[in-house]
Amino acid sequence: MSDRIYLDNAATSWPKPATVYEAVDRYQRENGAPLGRGSNREADEVARTIRTCRANIAQLIGATDPSRIIFTYSGTDSLNLGLHGVLRPGDHVITTSAEHNSVLRPLRNLEKSGVISVSQVPVNGDGVAQPDDIRREIRQQTRLIALIHSSNVTGCIQPAEDVGRMARDHDLLFLLDAAQSLGHTELSVEKLNCDFLAAPGHKGLFGPTGTGVLYCGPRAGSVRPLRQGGTGSNSDSDWQPETLPEKFEAGNHNVPGLVGLAAGVEYVLRRTVAEIQRHEQELTSLLLSKLREIRGLRIFGSSDSSQRVGVVSLQAGGYDPQELAAVLDSLPVRVQGRAGYHCAPAIHRAIGSSEFGGTFRLSVSAMVTAEQVEEAASILASVV
Ligand SMILES: Cc1ncc(COP(=O)(O)O)c(C=O)c1O
Repeated sequence: MSDRIYLDNAATSWPKPATVYEAVDRYQRENGAPLGRGSNREADEVARTIRTCRANIAQLIGATDPSRIIFTYSGTDSLNLGLHGVLRPGDHVITTSAEHNSVLRPLRNLEKSGVISVSQVPVNGDGVAQPDDIRREIRQQTRLIALIHSSNVTGCIQPAEDVGRMARDHDLLFLLDAAQSLGHTELSVEKLNCDFLAAPGHKGLFGPTGTGVLYCGPRAGSVRPLRQGGTGSNSDSDWQPETLPEKFEAGNHNVPGLVGLAAGVEYVLRRTVAEIQRHEQELTSLLLSKLREIRGLRIFGSSDSSQRVGVVSLQAGGYDPQELAAVLDSLPVRVQGRAGYHCAPAIHRAIGSSEFGGTFRLSVSAMVTAEQVEEAASILASVV
């Protein structure tokens, strides 16, 4: 039995599948070539691995053209590229109170600079936005709807399909923050009408930190790159290439990260998202039922595990979540979750968790077992 039960997979997944560690280690020790900047066998192998990874991510999200999968350095990086790349002076953006600061802060920055205006629609007590509230905010200048797919605080799943359809009907762009859903729930950019889908590579896809992906659909039109520079292609020109994905991938890639991401994505495809979703839903039901048995706990979000991903927030009898996290991390078997506002300030006001410093959050992954969930819940019960 390990002395550490890691349930902070919403921050970053750990452990990764063994194949991820093996791929990174083998690349670092035996290959070491950059991507797109070498004419040798090692560089060819790297190019093949990353080409396959792009195609596999396209398959995972139901995108037909792998060149529309852009590699970035985090979920935040992907969201910044989508938002800063597409928004223009005079645009109006609709978003929600459930969003992560990686959406809210770029929007607030553009708003403060006088570039765009923003409407933030409220969410209900579970943290879910209502499509009618979004529809009511649509005006002539509205260009984009930015929506979190699943909350990183309550785990609730937003009505993304309805919002995507609404965006298409009103000829608006639709950006989906899939940080807590990619690799956890089946999704399709076609079905969801996504023009942008942004996600980290280091959560549900099991890549190392320092990896992220952005799907940039054809309706997004001409998106500006946030960086210009060497791409290893068209090197005789001093202009940034317009071809995808090079347009957005200036500078050397995080190849160790991408090689690990490639192995993580292969793991997800082999196990299948449907099976991971089933496993995580079972773990979440188990966790919720065990937590409900603990007196003095307040649990946030829907009690129906089919309406949420494997992210559960709670408060323990008025204690500061930081204190709870510290106590849980000091025991012989340490239970590791995350305490605080989880970079999503507005949702805490909606669900009533602003008082006492936010929530304590537990989050599962495909690698977590039912035994770990049961043991974590029993340790939490004794602490509370
Ligand atoms: C919903 C959501 N969006 C965006 C991000 C940002 O991702 P990253 O940490 O890779 O920058 C996170 C990470 O916690 C998240 O949960």
